[in-house]
Amino acid sequence: MFPASRPRRLRRTPALRELTRETFLRPEAFVYPLFVRKGKGVKSEIASMPGQYHFSPDTIVTEAGAALEDGVRSVLLFGLPDAKDPQGSEAWADDGAVQQATAALKKAFPDLLVMTDVCLCEYTSHGHCGVVEKGGVVNDATLPLLAKAAVSHARAGADLVAPSDMMDGRVAAIREALDFEGLTDTAILSYAAKYASAFYGPFREAAGSTPQFGDRRAYQMDPANVEEAMREIALDIDEGADLVMVKPALAYLDVIRRAKDAFPVPIAAYNVSGEYAMLEAAAARGWLDRERAILETLTSIRRAGASIILTYHAREAARLLR
Ligand code: PBG
Repeated sequence: MFPASRPRRLRRTPALRELTRETFLRPEAFVYPLFVRKGKGVKSEIASMPGQYHFSPDTIVTEAGAALEDGVRSVLLFGLPDAKDPQGSEAWADDGAVQQATAALKKAFPDLLVMTDVCLCEYTSHGHCGVVEKGGVVNDATLPLLAKAAVSHARAGADLVAPSDMMDGRVAAIREALDFEGLTDTAILSYAAKYASAFYGPFREAAGSTPQFGDRRAYQMDPANVEEAMREIALDIDEGADLVMVKPALAYLDVIRRAKDAFPVPIAAYNVSGEYAMLEAAAARGWLDRERAILETLTSIRRAGASIILTYHAREAARLLR
């Protein structure tokens, strides 16, 4: 006798498949990362990330407006400074690119959620995410600099600051500085489990943030570890993180799932530049169906347990979901 169960029965028609679908993508849960530098009228394509651009504070408003039209309500800003120095002082300049863009975006679209990446690597001459002494990144001396950057972003109007440096104690330092300035409503999305990954390659070209010596393994996590990710996330929540992130996404879907099951906070996942570039490169050669691959990728991240997805495909995916 043939088995009584025939799972194919529920896959027979589109209506049956939609009736039984378990995972849904929502454009409201996408965050669109954008790169900004000072100036006017800038929109130049990033070679390592086709379809992504460097903007200036005026053109970024146009782009965010188009994203809103597509249904994407959140952006994450990365800044490119005019000049770099060992401390990365443009990171907290009140007239920095991120600060200018944040103010312009909030003025044009008060309801747009503006998030800012808080890190020093784009701003330091050595390309590391903190203060360098004797060839190493010093943890505690870096914290006040990150806090200054976060405060300047929040003052410019950022709804949420996202520290991506992986220094110990930075969430507490940032929370304390924000509260001291009366910026108690500014939320913190911590890059809590951020791995030392090869998949940031295209971003480093886009942000000019490649370390000039060594690598980031003494502060970002070892790709082999998941228990440690749970500890990092627990610490950041304890220090006051409102949301936590796992990064990258695709090679770390198991980490997303573990985080989702273990912690009662929204989990964000960053579908990083290398993941974007791989898909785009294969699609450009006709080796992948681009649109299907985009939605399948994002669905896998959502299915793994991410409530929030940071993705360079945000606009496109939102349009595909219409
Ligand atoms: C800055 C930062 C990086 C990314 C986000 N914030 C690069 C890095 O850590 O080297 C990567 C984003 C991406 O690859 O899309 N610390």
